[in-house]
Amino acid sequence: MKVAIIGTGYVGLTTGVTLAFLGHTVKCLDVDPAKVEQLKKGISPIYEPHLNELLKLAMPRLTFTCSNDEALRDAQIIFIAVGTPSLPDGNPNLTYLKSAAQAIGANVAAPHVVIVNKSTVPIGSGNWVESIVRDEYRANNKHQRSQFFVASNPEFLREGSALSDMLYADRIVVGADDPKAIESLRELYQPLIEQTFDAPNFLRRPEGFRAVHFLSSDLQSAELIKYAANAFLALKISFINEISELSEKVGANISHIARGIGLDSRIGNRFLQAGIGWGGSCFGKDTLALISTAKEYNLSMPITAAAREVNFRQRARMIEILMHELKILKGRKVGILGLAFKPFTDDLRDAPAFDLATRLLERGAKVVGYDPVAMERAKKEWAGLEMEYASSAESVFSEADAVLLVTEWPDFKQLSFSECGGRMRTRFILDGRNFLDRAEIQNAGLKIVTLGHSQ
Ligand SMILES: NC(=O)c1ccc[n+]([C@@H]2O[C@H](COP(=O)([O-])OP(=O)(O)OC[C@H]3O[C@@H](n4cnc5c(N)ncnc54)[C@H](O)[C@@H]3O)[C@@H](O)[C@H]2O)c1
Repeated sequence: MKVAIIGTGYVGLTTGVTLAFLGHTVKCLDVDPAKVEQLKKGISPIYEPHLNELLKLAMPRLTFTCSNDEALRDAQIIFIAVGTPSLPDGNPNLTYLKSAAQAIGANVAAPHVVIVNKSTVPIGSGNWVESIVRDEYRANNKHQRSQFFVASNPEFLREGSALSDMLYADRIVVGADDPKAIESLRELYQPLIEQTFDAPNFLRRPEGFRAVHFLSSDLQSAELIKYAANAFLALKISFINEISELSEKVGANISHIARGIGLDSRIGNRFLQAGIGWGGSCFGKDTLALISTAKEYNLSMPITAAAREVNFRQRARMIEILMHELKILKGRKVGILGLAFKPFTDDLRDAPAFDLATRLLERGAKVVGYDPVAMERAKKEWAGLEMEYASSAESVFSEADAVLLVTEWPDFKQLSFSECGGRMRTRFILDGRNFLDRAEIQNAGLKIVTLGHSQ
């Protein structure tokens, strides 16, 4: 099928590369010429494991362009995958969505066009996009030959494992009011649904994995599924964090508690990791958008609101623990291990490391950070932050009064803590992810504090 993708960010690029790999002809459109130039050379502008390798396999059927006309003219299926960041009032900024819809209306020419919202958009956006496309189409095209169908196809990938999440998804959700739109997307995704493609050797099919659930619904339900899924995941993390604070007080061990409740199949053991809590481009923005949407209908969302409150309290708690340990932060040197909001990505949006570094700098501490893949991006995107950047994980420890582990990169587990401890002024680690081996660190002569364990 002839596919166009608007926006080549984390979602759009992953979608475009995957669909081209599956055999479709895909044109990826972006307004950022630097991104497009880099992609034309076959190099991904974002860090995502195996993306460059899959890009290479997909390249024969993949085009990158800044031209609306070139990307959209022949497209049968058009995905909108532009950003929808939060506005100060909590609602998503729909400027990019609007200009994508206008570009579609002004440029499409195929007789049947399915327009697919893959961006996370407020409920009702499908209808809104359709009306913009129609208005623009009428204003630009006298022949009025094209028929439009709008669908919502929310994306559930996780950065850091985006490609395998797409190839071996838990489910594909498609919402549309016209069955033709649903059928077109079912056809597009058939190789994924039935797992008929040859798995690349660097992204092997999990053992026993045979098919992807395809769930079709009306437009609004699909839009709401995305928000509900993210809010639920966010509150699962916040729930274990709420319990973890009590666990510390009563002298319990949050790891045992998480395991103890997670073995109940109704609860499940994933997303029960106590720590600093979530960050990233989605949970904060989507929980806020859900609350804002509900407000329009005079509804409150107390559970979602509480999930947010607990989450952001965790960041403040990290600073409190540090102040309790060091007493004075002014003039202290604090190292931060991990800058991105999770391992295996360079995405810095709503990264707890930024928040922590800001709070520490405000209190007069000197902050030195390190991340295996997000350093260059941090230097650019956080240019206003007076943080220093270390050349290696080990050098974060040099002369430090404390080191905070913020991102659970497996590399950090491999450090020689006796050597790292020897470089420190005060041998203290605050493990914000309950990730390091406490006994190993204590045996290396360092004090370690984790959230959710009595110390
Ligand atoms: N990142 C994730 O993990 C994730 C997961 C699921 C859903 N989502 C949702 O998917 C959407 C995209 O997220 P992302 O992280 O990929 O964003 P992103 O910021 O990485 O990418 C958006 C891209 O769109 C481009 N763009 C903006 N306006 C454009 C236009 N008019 N025409 C062409 N290109 C345009 C930008 O230049 C950018 O490259 C958001 O709504 C997000 O909530 C993201």
